[in-house]
Amino acid sequence: MERLARESGGLDVNSRYAYLLWCRDFADTSVVARAGDRMAGFITGYRRPAAPDTLFVWQVAVGPEFRRRGLASRMLGHLAGAVRTRGVRFVEATVTPGNKASLQLFGSFAEANGTGMASDVLFSEHELGSDNGPEVLYRIGPLPGPAVASAGPLPERAAAGPRPFSGSSEPRHRPFEQGDARGPAPD
Ligand SMILES: CC(C)(COP(=O)(O)OP(=O)(O)OC[C@H]1O[C@@H](n2cnc3c(N)ncnc32)[C@H](O)[C@@H]1OP(=O)(O)O)[C@@H](O)C(=O)NCCC(=O)NCCS
Repeated sequence: MERLARESGGLDVNSRYAYLLWCRDFADTSVVARAGDRMAGFITGYRRPAAPDTLFVWQVAVGPEFRRRGLASRMLGHLAGAVRTRGVRFVEATVTPGNKASLQLFGSFAEANGTGMASDVLFSEHELGSDNGPEVLYRIGPLPGPAVASAGPLPERAAAGPRPFSGSSEPRHRPFEQGDARGPAPD
């Protein structure tokens, strides 16, 4: 995972120790995709302690040679499908402004599940101590009905080759509004 994060570019690379701890303690809210004995991609996530109906997606990585084949979409669909059986109804993630692939991934996921995607600043530049822009939080949900998830074997999809990008590069989101379900308030 540490290698994949490094190869992915644009991701914070955490220590091996951090990834190992993650896999020990948050395995049921994370997913790894393998192609033979290679790791093709992963998603790390956790259920927010103050809002257990919300899955926060921390990192998504797909190896450069496995991209544009629907792997991230399928990992996200698979993970969401699994956690929904345990009461998760919202998915959150922060997306770096300009990360079209990531934005498209979450926008498509919202669309496939027939639900909305709201956005708001999570951490300001001041809070982050950086001038690379704020961290924008995208919140998807509520997830209605049965999960839209496909968990077929990777080789079949891989054999189909990359799919052309047909979506808009414009963010498909609206600002948070009063009435957006945000899960239970912290005690
Ligand atoms: C973001 C990332 C995980 C996407 O993985 P992927 O397996 O290639 O994504 P998918 O093939 O499932 O595509 C998901 C959607 O994004 C679109 N997409 C993928 N790459 C894209 C790109 N470079 N530019 C624009 N759209 C893109 C796909 O067309 C698809 O849209 P659709 O559902 O409307 O058809 C991958 O590019 C990556 O690892 N990037 C580096 C790390 C990163 O930025 N992670 C996200 C932040 S945590």
